[in-house]
Amino acid sequence: MALRFSYVLHPFLLLLFSSSILAHNEEDPTIQIMEEFSGYPIHEPHSSSSSSLSSLSVDTESLQRQIDELSSFSDTPAPSVTRILYSEKDVLARRFIKNLMGLSGLSVREDAVGNIFGRWDGHEPELTAVATGSHIDAIPYSGKYDGVVGVLGAIEAINVLRRSGFKPKRSLEVILFTSEEPTRFGISCLGSRLLAGSETLANALKETVDGQNITFFDAARSAGYATDREDLSSVFLKKGSYSAFVELHIEQGPILEEEGISIGVVTAIAAPASIKVDFEGNGGHAGAVLMPHSRNDAGLAAAELALAVEKHVLESGSIDTVGTVGILELHPGAINSIPSKSHLEIDTRDIDETRRNNVIEKIHQSAMTIAKNRKVKLSEFKIVNQDPPALSDEPIIKAMEAASQELNLTHKLMISRAYHDSLFMARVSPMGMIFIPCYKEGKLVGTVSYI
Ligand SMILES: *[C@@H]1O[C@H](CO)[C@@H](O)[C@H](O)[C@H]1NC(C)=O
Ligand SMILES: *[C@@H]1O[C@H](CO)[C@@H](O)[C@H](O)[C@H]1NC(C)=O
Ligand SMILES: [Zn+2]
Repeated sequence: MALRFSYVLHPFLLLLFSSSILAHNEEDPTIQIMEEFSGYPIHEPHSSSSSSLSSLSVDTESLQRQIDELSSFSDTPAPSVTRILYSEKDVLARRFIKNLMGLSGLSVREDAVGNIFGRWDGHEPELTAVATGSHIDAIPYSGKYDGVVGVLGAIEAINVLRRSGFKPKRSLEVILFTSEEPTRFGISCLGSRLLAGSETLANALKETVDGQNITFFDAARSAGYATDREDLSSVFLKKGSYSAFVELHIEQGPILEEEGISIGVVTAIAAPASIKVDFEGNGGHAGAVLMPHSRNDAGLAAAELALAVEKHVLESGSIDTVGTVGILELHPGAINSIPSKSHLEIDTRDIDETRRNNVIEKIHQSAMTIAKNRKVKLSEFKIVNQDPPALSDEPIIKAMEAASQELNLTHKLMISRAYHDSLFMARVSPMGMIFIPCYKEGKLVGTVSYI
């Protein structure tokens, strides 16, 4: 069941290099090319490209051991993993990662919400750094690889580079993002959204509580973070803070495994919008109120809207447009009552923001028309979030493709239909993602996070 790290990490390593060197190198062009393709600085004595590449060797056993050990910081029994933001297990897992970063010679910094940065200073530290990372929080009963491969893999990549004697020109940074999963506070990619400078989120967090009515700030404080209650702007990164950000992640889908392809090079990340809709009617007894008269059934309005969502999504004409009614609740929910209230939650995603927003607009129009025709009240139509999709950076895509080719690995350009911290990092840095196959869609134990 172990992921095939021996080949998985090689392109990642190469990428760390090539992207660090691709960006704005104004020196001798021959040096640039050698460095891009060898992954080794030109002044290293034996830098003939493929031989040095294949000599980069990942300690897969120790990496697998670390993944297993990290999975033991869990609130549910093995093999499942449950690690909720700022819980005791999360704090212990963070300590484990910081310790590994220290052992790898990285200098560790944490921000006010617990994003963790491990930095290896380059020999030209004034240049912007190259960063990579992912998350280690885990939704209830998830598997042990989601997010984790992108963090532990990055630390091992640093180890490999150190063992090979490499000295980076740009600084390299490993990032652990706080709360990619929305489990505790209902906010996904909390850490990376703040890094990307979301004022809206920084303000919303002042009022945010979890299911136990514990405030975000109390929870953060119990884990040793957010000592300053009001100001999270310290977390914001300036645009251009990194010359490149890359994330390694399991695909969480069947394509690579089914097609026997080693590497997915992500070209775009689709972004979801979510919508909450409420209809209200008069209700009434299922026997007493006759069909042709005065029924205004909030349940039928919801059913009609659910079908309209499917229709509008299909009308977009693109396979990349998707829409789902994942929640449909009727009130009072009795077999002999005409529903007086209905509640729907709609998720719609696309890699093209305009196309997705058109779908949202059509759904809104339909909701109003349905309410009018069925004489129910559209009491709420709320767009809860509407994140813009992100495109990967073209030079990073090229570097990943070149790396795969050089390593004789099959690869495929793909769209990430789940979203990741990379979606938000793309707002402050050129971004790229590598997917690796995951055994049975990552369902090693029960569920995987599709957020
Ligand atoms: C949550 O806590 C606040 C502040 O202590 C209190 O005012 C509020 O009533 C609580 N809400 C619930 C649902 O317990
Ligand atoms: C890729 O395949 C070529 C041709 O078979 C071989 O010479 C080269 O060493 C391989 N590269 C790696 C990194 O395995
Ligand atoms: Zn993930």
